[in-house]
Amino acid sequence: MSRPPERILVVDDEAVVRDSLGAWLRQDGFEVVTAADAREARQALAAAPFALALVDIQMPGTSGLELLPEIVAGEAAPVCIIITAYASVDTAVQALKAGAWDYLVKPFDPDELTHLVRRALEHRELQAENRQLRGRLDEVSRAPAIVGASRAMRELDRRISKVAPTDSTVLVTGESGTGKELVARHIHARSRRRHRRLVIVHCGALAEGILESELFGHEKGAFTGAASVHQGKFEQADGGTIFLDEIGDVSPRVQVELLRVLEERRVTRVGGSGSIPVDFRVVAATNRDLPAMIEAGEFREELFWRLNVVPVRIPPLRERPEDILALADYFLADLGGKMNRRGLEFTPAARRRLQAYSWPGNVRELQNAIERAVVLASGPVIDVGDLPRSVRDGAGGGGGPAPVPGGPISLAELERRHIAATLTGCAGNVSEAARVLGIDRSTLYAKMRRYGLGRPEAEAGSNQ
Ligand SMILES: Nc1ncnc2c1ncn2[C@@H]1O[C@H](COP(=O)(O)OP(=O)(O)OP(=O)(O)O)[C@@H](O)[C@H]1O
Ligand SMILES: [Mg+2]
Repeated sequence: MSRPPERILVVDDEAVVRDSLGAWLRQDGFEVVTAADAREARQALAAAPFALALVDIQMPGTSGLELLPEIVAGEAAPVCIIITAYASVDTAVQALKAGAWDYLVKPFDPDELTHLVRRALEHRELQAENRQLRGRLDEVSRAPAIVGASRAMRELDRRISKVAPTDSTVLVTGESGTGKELVARHIHARSRRRHRRLVIVHCGALAEGILESELFGHEKGAFTGAASVHQGKFEQADGGTIFLDEIGDVSPRVQVELLRVLEERRVTRVGGSGSIPVDFRVVAATNRDLPAMIEAGEFREELFWRLNVVPVRIPPLRERPEDILALADYFLADLGGKMNRRGLEFTPAARRRLQAYSWPGNVRELQNAIERAVVLASGPVIDVGDLPRSVRDGAGGGGGPAPVPGGPISLAELERRHIAATLTGCAGNVSEAARVLGIDRSTLYAKMRRYGLGRPEAEAGSNQ
C-alpha cells in the first residue's frame, strides 16, 4: 500500500522562490501548497494539516519569525524550516528559538533541499512515534492495583474483567473517593484499546462553552480567541477510550450534543460544518443520583440509557469494612516506599481506630489519612495520635465495624452503620441480616432504601 504524498507548505513573498521550491518538491513526490504571505499561510494551515513548512524569514507584513510560533503549535504541527537570505547566526538562532527545526540559506541547491526535507520529515516521524510509545507506557503503568478482597470488590473485579474486552459503554457510579477513576483505568487497561489513549475529561470542572470545545474541538476562528484549529477529546480518543468523569454535572445543552455524538459516532467541531467519524469507547462516571436527576428534569433520560449500558457500582467503604485494613496496609507500604519511610507499622490501637471509622470520604480519605500519618510518624510505628482528628475521635475504638456510641453521630447514622456492617457480615444475605437484626425482611429493605444501602451481590449480578 502506498501512502498519500506528504504535504508541504511553502511560504515566501517571492513568486520565483515559491515556484522553484514547489517544482522541486513536487518532483520529489510531495504535495505542495504555496502562500505569498502570513494571511495565506494561515488559511492553508486551517484548511488541512501539513507535515512540513518552509517559511521565508523576510516578508512584508508579518515576518516568518512572527508566524513561526503559530505554525509549530500543537501536537500534529508541521516541522518547520526557515528560509533566509543572509547566513547570519543571529537570525538562525532566533528561528531555532521560535521553534524552527533548521534553516536554509538562499540561494539553495536542490540536493541540499531534498536532503534537509527528508531529515526533517524523519525527525517528525520519530517524534510522533516517541509520543505514542510514551503514551502507551503511561496507560499501562497508570492503572495501579485495585485492593480489596471483600465479596463486593471481588465481584467488581470480575465484572471489570468481563466488560473490559467488549466495546460496551460503561457507567461507573459510586460516592466520592470510592475509586471510579481507578476502575475506568482498569477497564481501559484490560481492553483491546489499551495501546491507544485513555482520554480523561473532568466534565464538572469546565464551563459550558469551554467543555464543548474541549470535547468536540473547534475550528479556527469559531469564537474570539480560537486562534487555531483545536482537536477535541473525542478525536484524541480515536482508537482508544474516553472517560467522561462527573457526567452528572454536564449542562442540558452539552447533554444533547453528547447524545448525538454517542448515537452517530461522529463529532462536529465547534464552528465546523462537516462531521468527522471517530472510533471511541466511552466510560462515564458520576457520584450523583442520575435517576433522581432525570425525575427532576436535570438529566436527559435518553443519555442515561445510552451511558448505562453496563452499570458498575462501587460500594462505599463503610459497606465493605473488611477492605479497610487491607487498603491501609497497601497505602502504608506504597506511600512509605515513595517517601522513604519503609518498615512503618500501625499499632494495634491505630488499627482499631482505622477499622471503626466510617470513612465518609471513602478510599481517598483513607489514603490521605495514611499519607499524613507517614509524614507525621516520628518513630517506627504509626499510633492513634498520628491519625487525623476525625479518625481518632470518630466511632469508638471497639475493634469491630460496629460503631460505639459517644462519637458525634446521630441515631440514624448509628442505625445505618449497624445495618451496613450486619449486611456485610452476612455477605449481603438480606434474610439472614434481618434475622440477626430481629426485624422482618420488608422492614430491612425499607431501611436499606432509606439509607442507600445496596445488596452487592444482587446489583452485581443483574444487568449483565
Ligand atoms: N480499591 C482500591 N485499591 C487501591 N486504591 C484505590 C482503591 N480505590 C480507590 N483507590 C485510590 O483512591 C484514590 C481515589 O480514587 P479515585 O480518584 O479513583 O476515586 P473517585 O471515585 O474517582 O473519586 P471522586 O469522586 O472524588 O473523583 C486514588 O488514589 C485511587 O487510586
Ligand atoms: Mg474521580
